Amino acid sequence: MRFESNKPFAKRSLVFSESAIRDEFGNDVMMDWEHPMMKRHAELVCHAGDDVLEVGFGMGISASYIQALKPRMHVIVECHPQVLPRLRAWAKDKANVHVVEGGWYERRADLGTYDGIFYDTYADEYAPEFFATFEDYLKPGGRMSFYNLLPAAENEFGLTCEYHEVAVRPDANDYHEAPKYFAPVCRKPAP
Ligand SMILES: C[S@@+](CC[C@H](N)C(=O)[O-])C[C@H]1O[C@@H](n2cnc3c(N)ncnc32)[C@H](O)[C@@H]1O
Repeated sequence: MRFESNKPFAKRSLVFSESAIRDEFGNDVMMDWEHPMMKRHAELVCHAGDDVLEVGFGMGISASYIQALKPRMHVIVECHPQVLPRLRAWAKDKANVHVVEGGWYERRADLGTYDGIFYDTYADEYAPEFFATFEDYLKPGGRMSFYNLLPAAENEFGLTCEYHEVAVRPDANDYHEAPKYFAPVCRKPAP
């Protein structure tokens, strides 16, 4: 069971290990058993030559899968002061990566429009605003995928999505136990 906190996420101290990020309260923020899920999310939002927006860098797992798919431009928004130095170091030799520092909501005027968006944040108080407005950041025909907390082909946000089933073998964690994960993708209609 996830133990949340009212402390804003960007103010929480994070603990990094080889295989996970946890916050100061012991909440699991990101774990490396999620590789298969992150690979599928990357495939859903990025085709070669696309412009891609990623919200939340974490361990950079999905970011590396997106890079392998050769986007034209890969914008990454990240808010946490302990994650940002890791993101800057990862981005240093990648000419197509642009880092936007801060919460996506505070930086929303700087975001532009994309062929694909992957939204994978943690304790984002503006998540409802993101799901209400994500089409503003998509080109016509663009795709948005997000981390699905539900262990089913459903979502909590009233979105019409397709779901792609992914087999997973979770290590002990506080957010996903099932051997299946349902990666959603929503499409902005093309005119
Ligand atoms: C679960 S991790 C992302 C994992 C990532 N997909 C990966 O493959 O490693 C969530 C990330 O979102 C960031 N984050 C949380 N709220 C955010 C916000 N409002 N805007 C931007 N980044 C945010 C956190 O600091 C953290 O780095």
